[in-house]
Amino acid sequence: SEQKEIRNSLLGFQSVAAQTSSSFDSVIVPSGYRATPFFSWGDAVLPGAPAWRSDASDSWEDQLMQAGDNNDGMHYFPFADQPNEHGLLVVNHEYVNPTLHPNGMQFTQREDNSRDRPAEQVYKEMAAHGLSIIEIRRDASGQWQRVADSKFNRRITATTPMTISGPLAGHTAMRTESDPSGLEVLGTINNCSMGATPWQTYLACEENFHNYFVNRDEADYNTRSTHKRYGIGLSGSSRYYAWESVDPRFNATPGADRPYQGHVNEPNRFGWVVEVDPFNPNDKPRKRTAMGRLGRECATCVVDERGHMAVYSGDDARGEYVYKFLPEQPYKAGDIDRNRDLLDSGTLYAARFDADGRGEWLPLRWGAPGLTPENGFADQHAVLLNARGAADAIGATPMDRPEWVAAHPQTREMYVSLTNNTERGKTDPTDAANPREENVHGQILRWREAGADPWATEFEWDLFVLAGERQKSDGSVPANRIGNIEGDLFSSPDGMAFDPDGRLWILTDADETTHYTADIGCNQMLCADPVSREIRRFLVGPRGAEITGITWTPDARTLWVNVQHPGISYPASDGITRPRSTTVMIRREDGGVIGG
Ligand code: FEO
Ligand code: CA
Ligand code: CA
Ligand code: CA
Repeated sequence: SEQKEIRNSLLGFQSVAAQTSSSFDSVIVPSGYRATPFFSWGDAVLPGAPAWRSDASDSWEDQLMQAGDNNDGMHYFPFADQPNEHGLLVVNHEYVNPTLHPNGMQFTQREDNSRDRPAEQVYKEMAAHGLSIIEIRRDASGQWQRVADSKFNRRITATTPMTISGPLAGHTAMRTESDPSGLEVLGTINNCSMGATPWQTYLACEENFHNYFVNRDEADYNTRSTHKRYGIGLSGSSRYYAWESVDPRFNATPGADRPYQGHVNEPNRFGWVVEVDPFNPNDKPRKRTAMGRLGRECATCVVDERGHMAVYSGDDARGEYVYKFLPEQPYKAGDIDRNRDLLDSGTLYAARFDADGRGEWLPLRWGAPGLTPENGFADQHAVLLNARGAADAIGATPMDRPEWVAAHPQTREMYVSLTNNTERGKTDPTDAANPREENVHGQILRWREAGADPWATEFEWDLFVLAGERQKSDGSVPANRIGNIEGDLFSSPDGMAFDPDGRLWILTDADETTHYTADIGCNQMLCADPVSREIRRFLVGPRGAEITGITWTPDARTLWVNVQHPGISYPASDGITRPRSTTVMIRREDGGVIGG
């Protein structure tokens, strides 16, 4: 391994080496640090939950009380009196793996090309989606513990009742046979990244919801933009799990003779930001429809001294957009009544990145050119329901799969990870912000709002780094795979966040089966200096895993990061035990700031 001289004042650790072995099954961090599995799929959440069974024989009722699968975005909410020793950890459970069941997922093919599922498996899969909220604290010996009997401990799943809030509450497009009011939806799914508000609530985001629905009526599908533009399944089964064979609300085929055409509107009730108050165990989560409907990766909140607030989101699909939502009213610290529903009114914008390094936020406002009835937008409700189509119409820039957005804590400079786009150059031409054809390695782009004002509609941008390989002496690496990283190599940036000192942490989600190279290796977490652009590899995760989700105590002396879908046997790392998605805790042996 290459030993780097420690000269950067922000990056005070020695890089770890890329891990290329097909049997690598642990987590490595720099010397002087310790990484400990802290919270894994199946761990007890609710008081009285049974212990996880390594043969995956836990029932769906057990699963409702235990941690879900595929830990992704998360956030630590401190208690005010001991912020660095006591808090609530909220963790997304994005989707489920076949390892959820003793012998994998069972599908039975039908003659009409749809698939049947066992009800017990579907119920367990629904229970393993959503969020976990757990109380954690450091004990007298300084060890972090999960508080087993906490009143705050909670699971939110694909069946938890939630309120539809904002402009679409009760709208005809939100009404279904099961919910004629259009005011209450069951559950949240595919919660990838997230946000945390200045008033200490959690924003879970619904990313690839389209894979959970099917509309088998081709004529209807082709005229229904809320299905077609979002890529809901068109024939056979929904793509992921065929839940509709057990729960009809996932079958969005219009039922002509049924109230509200059955469940044709159910997909309209997903793709939102879901606000949850972790400090109120009885809080009913709210889907904030003013913020628009996307394949939403994240909801990064930024607020300035005047209370000007923006919520930034990537829509992670090829050629989709970067968005920000500006609440109509400023945020006011401590004004609980005002902040409670701040996200229920405001304006959604999509970004245009121009070749000259300038950019503009384009409002998705009904009535503007392109956002009129002739273009399929009857009113502002239609704009919010088909925000993707509205962003197409106003000329936003199609991006290489926007994932997380990170805000520099002092300068409010914004960074977005564009994870990769193997279709770039085919469906969308290359441009200044997305410069490589068949972009397998991705890039990180950053921008500065005019006047550092979150409410600005103009900005300046540049490419922070192109991820990828270095040219070899024999010149064998294709130009579109060569990056410009100053430091350790990586591919497919996804998770990304700043720590309080302004270190940029980058987490990767490369497909190692197709784009694996020896100097990149397994997925990893790196740390970047935004000024010098130096990037150092801090952590490598087990083979098969994505590294995603990052949060800290306010003093940045405890860091949590997620190992999602490890491939072998992590966290047991014995080569035998069923692998489990796991929240890993990182501490420095001398108790210092992580990365410093
Ligand atoms: Fe679930 Fe875009 O990552
Ligand atoms: Ca992601
Ligand atoms: Ca990803
Ligand atoms: Ca993932």
